[in-house]
Amino acid sequence: PVILREDYRPFGWLVPEVRLDFDLGLTRTRVRAELTVQRNARADHADTIRLNGDGLKPLSVTVDGAAADWRMDGDDLIVPLREDAHLIAVETEIDPTANTQLMGLYASGGMLCTQCEAEGFRRITFFPDRPDVLSVYTVRMHGPKAVFPILLCNGNRVAEGDNDDGTHWAEWNDPWPKPSYLFALVAGDLVANSKPFVTCSGREVECNIWVRKEDLARTDHALESLHRSMQWDEEVFGREYDLDLYNIVAVSDFNMGAMENKGLNVFNTKYVLADPDTATDADFDAVEGVIAHEYFHNWSGNRVTCRDWFQLSLKEGFTVLRDQLFSQDMRGEAVKRIEDVRILRAAQFPEDAGPLAHPIRPDSYREISNFYTATVYNKGAEVIRMMRSMAGVERFRAGTDLYFDRHDGEAATCEDFVRAIEDGAGLDLAQFRLWYSQAGTPRVSVSQKVEGDSLELTLRQTVPATPGQPDKQPMPIPLRVAVHSRAAAALGAEQLVVLAEAERTFTLPLSGPDPVVSINRGFTAPVVIERALDREDLVFLAAHDDDPFARSEALQELAVGHLVGTASGTLSADQQAAGEAAIIGAFRSSLADAALDDAMRGELMMLPSETYLFEAMATGERKADPGAIHAAREGLKAAIGSALADELGALHARASAVPLDDPAGRGARKVKTQALVYLAAADPGRTAKLAAQQYDAADNMTDRQGALMVLCGLDCPERDERLAAFHARYKDNALVVDKWFTLQALSLHPDVIAQVRALAEHPDFTMRNPNRVRSLYMAFAGNPQGFHDASGEGYRMIADVILALDPINPQTAARFVPSLGRWRRIEPARAALMKGELERIMAAGKLSRDTFEQVSRSLEG
Ligand code: ARG
Ligand code: ZN
Repeated sequence: PVILREDYRPFGWLVPEVRLDFDLGLTRTRVRAELTVQRNARADHADTIRLNGDGLKPLSVTVDGAAADWRMDGDDLIVPLREDAHLIAVETEIDPTANTQLMGLYASGGMLCTQCEAEGFRRITFFPDRPDVLSVYTVRMHGPKAVFPILLCNGNRVAEGDNDDGTHWAEWNDPWPKPSYLFALVAGDLVANSKPFVTCSGREVECNIWVRKEDLARTDHALESLHRSMQWDEEVFGREYDLDLYNIVAVSDFNMGAMENKGLNVFNTKYVLADPDTATDADFDAVEGVIAHEYFHNWSGNRVTCRDWFQLSLKEGFTVLRDQLFSQDMRGEAVKRIEDVRILRAAQFPEDAGPLAHPIRPDSYREISNFYTATVYNKGAEVIRMMRSMAGVERFRAGTDLYFDRHDGEAATCEDFVRAIEDGAGLDLAQFRLWYSQAGTPRVSVSQKVEGDSLELTLRQTVPATPGQPDKQPMPIPLRVAVHSRAAAALGAEQLVVLAEAERTFTLPLSGPDPVVSINRGFTAPVVIERALDREDLVFLAAHDDDPFARSEALQELAVGHLVGTASGTLSADQQAAGEAAIIGAFRSSLADAALDDAMRGELMMLPSETYLFEAMATGERKADPGAIHAAREGLKAAIGSALADELGALHARASAVPLDDPAGRGARKVKTQALVYLAAADPGRTAKLAAQQYDAADNMTDRQGALMVLCGLDCPERDERLAAFHARYKDNALVVDKWFTLQALSLHPDVIAQVRALAEHPDFTMRNPNRVRSLYMAFAGNPQGFHDASGEGYRMIADVILALDPINPQTAARFVPSLGRWRRIEPARAALMKGELERIMAAGKLSRDTFEQVSRSLEG
């Protein structure tokens, strides 16, 4: 069945209080639930209550103590209710070890934990499992003390005790009313890294990071990140924490990154554990970002939650924006912004241009798990960022203050958020609301004309048709622009223009002759800018623009134009040579620019990804040719590597001399491996030696992984030796073994398909652990050379993974579908192979709702 946004109705009953009693066991857990229900005066009268279930059987159902006259409707339990208030008690029994979907209560490495968002609570007990039903939970847990010495739940522990039979119990109470998706429970043999945080009003909060004993030494970064997040949210958004306890638990089997359950976040170990020997600088950043994200949900998600799942971006888009702003403040604005835009383009733009395109507030779904997407999260964040850009930081803060104030304790909608920003920030967002309802990435074309001493800048927008949305209206697009002068080497002042019409001409002051427009500075709007700037203008912007984002953007534009031109065979030999020379020249300047720090230099040295180049190549009738894109990009890398061999060698040597804990160390490590990447493309033999040296000398995972990544793409003895050494050194560390799989699955090696097949047979590989599955197969699906191999073998392998994983873990299986779903934008021979695999999956029958929805949409759209 398809669920429609317009079908929302308030639930007939309120459930102000819930009491849960768990008798815990790894293979048998008894759950007794008591729900206090009251008629909802704001809903239509109902003489039954529907309690959602998923694979549950009720062992007993009573209403006010007497056996109830219940019936099942599919998976749901229907109980007749006559009066305005009742006490319903239901007992169920579940087997956490058999729960391979990892939704609801499940076993992971000998412990028990839960994941309830979006609809996992109904796999634990019968309940109105929807986010607009808010209850105060009191939970009693009981189990064998030797197996589960630690018993955790939301809120505060109010009582505990031991029994004579080797069992013990704890009772927890969460004073804040919450929807069932924020419920969590953890029972296991865990230890904590603890440090109190004192809030702005003086509340002392006990902060704990709970892990297995052997992981304790790698939890300081997570704990420090939590403290920094708490401090930042007080300072920047005026949000204070509201309990005396904040628990974070790391589990090794987890479908997503982490979960913001009230007072008891459950995390994938990947986003908790970090030390320099086992985690890269990027891993450290990811831990900090996800810890912050889940913490910020305490206000944007928990105190103000979502009315229904169509409103998911209300909490996710806003919280992603909040974590991005936090990381910008922690690590530097420009580099973080460049990274976030790279992610948006690699993950969200293709989604918006394909069969799975949906607005940030979708109109329909079959399985909500399929809508935890880059569109809802990352584009959702961009949409709110645009409001912030238009309002300015201070007025935006007035808007968010009003939002939190007005809706605290409520289940709100995206519309509520927009109205609060309108009222609080003083914006008119009437037309802006289209960003919530229209899918597709707008394209803005730019033309310019000098008129006296000003520039007439004409901007035109089109929003492409997407599945179910053939016609689009123009949306307000805020763009920061500046008009520079190349001839005068003068930089113009920046201003914000808002393009709200299909076409409009803006008059801007000139800063000198030969104007060069710098547009969408800081990436104020999630759009594609279409323009044909001269190579010289792009080179000028890449070297001189005062907005660092615009600098990197100019280099990207230069490279995209050149690579798409090369791949589609539209460049003359002269154009080809001139384009390559310009890019090499721009690289040479950024290598030599002493005013740049290495972190920014590392960004400027990054070529556009192949997926992004597919998008740029697939315009109008033209399709993307993965083989040609790959060849063009590798060719450019080799040209850069050989033209700049001396400079890159010198950079590698300079960066290698910077010590681990030097403040400049991070940037140095970034450019060090970048240098190897280009050198390897030009001179594999010599670079193999250099990479092996970097590997052997490394005192941190960033250098080690970087060197191994480069070696993985080369056919040399150093490759196999270092891969074996890496595995031997880290064989007991699951997260690092994941890296070992990923490096090989992502490699540029010509035999990558055969290597991935062999890795699937490795004793360390298992389909039961999502991190391991992703480490091999998500990585491979993101390896354009292997996945798009002209034989179609890469497509077949991923289709086989979907079929094998679907019965075990449908949520994770369905995440592999979008890579095959992009077939319409790919050249015909490969497109037919991709589509054939989707049809083969469809024909296999008996698919989960998750996979069925994604495959059928990919074939229809
Ligand atoms: N709310 C979590 C987060 O973004 C993600 C939960 C995803 N759950 C799911 N079933 N897809 O922080
Ligand atoms: Zn989130």
